Amino acid sequence: MTASEPPPLRIGVVGAGFMGRQHIEFIRAAQGAVLAAIADPLLSADVGHDCPTYEDVVTMLDAGGIDAAIIANPNPLHVETAVECLEAGVAVLLEKPIAMDSADSRRLVDTVAKLNGRLLVGHHRRHHPAVARARTAIREGELGEIVAVSGLWSARKDDAYFTDTPWHRAPGAGVMLINVVHDLDLLRHLCGEVAEIQAMRSSHARGLEVEDTVSLNLRFESGAVGSFLASDAGVSPWGWDQATEETLAFPFVPDGVAYRIVGTHGALSVPNLAKYTYGPSVPRDWHSPLSRTYLPVERRGSFQAQLDHFVDVARGMAEPLVTAEDASRTLALVEAAALAAGTSRTVDVARFRAEVEASEQP
Ligand SMILES: NC(=O)c1ccc[n+]([C@@H]2O[C@H](COP(=O)([O-])OP(=O)(O)OC[C@H]3O[C@@H](n4cnc5c(N)ncnc54)[C@H](O)[C@@H]3O)[C@@H](O)[C@H]2O)c1
Repeated sequence: MTASEPPPLRIGVVGAGFMGRQHIEFIRAAQGAVLAAIADPLLSADVGHDCPTYEDVVTMLDAGGIDAAIIANPNPLHVETAVECLEAGVAVLLEKPIAMDSADSRRLVDTVAKLNGRLLVGHHRRHHPAVARARTAIREGELGEIVAVSGLWSARKDDAYFTDTPWHRAPGAGVMLINVVHDLDLLRHLCGEVAEIQAMRSSHARGLEVEDTVSLNLRFESGAVGSFLASDAGVSPWGWDQATEETLAFPFVPDGVAYRIVGTHGALSVPNLAKYTYGPSVPRDWHSPLSRTYLPVERRGSFQAQLDHFVDVARGMAEPLVTAEDASRTLALVEAAALAAGTSRTVDVARFRAEVEASEQP
């Protein structure tokens, strides 16, 4: 640390389970942050720590000595824990989903606004360099006008994921809230707001109360249409987690694809960033050969980039890339998908959101 550099941000991790442990390792590897505390009522003995540990977040906050908190406890606790941290003047990186439902997320949106709180939601994929490059390609018209998008996330989770952790098989979890929430957030980030959604869901493969497999149809406000398939029961190499080297927990499949984005001038697969266009001297139609180029991009994991960004957000040097409002909208989209699946009808997403917000008015 030089004289001009601020001291490392002191971060407390709330919930040191599967995800919290990864955050702990990312903090340990980061330049601008230090692990200052862990709060977990069932802290496992194999979580190495050289910092104070607490049974709950309130005791951790009362003890002082932290500037920021990373919240990775079970989903039903997210809003309450984040509000407690914000009220203590602590910046928050809150794991997704922001809340159990979008109605509850409005409480957090309001608290952030009221307290002028610093809060980033952990839709980490937005921080991946390939996402930033894809967004630029779309926004700057490198693919022409976007016509359609297709996406797939399927990976077979181990059975213990469901048997050992009750909340993983109870309402509030399921492939939509645990996994598809990331994909829908990223599709919103890349292609804009979704106007309408249709959905089918199935619990057939695992036989649990929550769904294991879903199929979604999307109409974006831009006019583009899209489809997305997801399953936590089906073996596949296709999906964000397999296509990136984000964590050692998911073996990497090189040249992997999670999304295919189709425009009037070209196509792009993400995150491998293979771009398909016609050459300059051939007609732009299906009789001409397509050329493929891989867009160059920095190799960097999104969790590291997210943590660096969070340090800046906590210090007031950056506005959050994923705000509470943003994450609330993503969650509302997941709920709109669930409503569409439950009613077999097309859901108007903006109207659905307006109804949720109206129902929250005192
Ligand atoms: N960003 C991602 O890619 C990603 C991936 C996995 C999980 N997640 C999210 O991370 C969160 C945790 O998921 P997980 O799979 O690590 O779950 P987990 O069950 O493995 O871990 C949760 C931890 O929270 C602890 N906990 C329970 N009650 C607590 C309390 N009152 N205060 C503090 N800690 C408490 C538990 O003891 C456990 O150690 C969830 O919100 C999940 O959606 C995000």
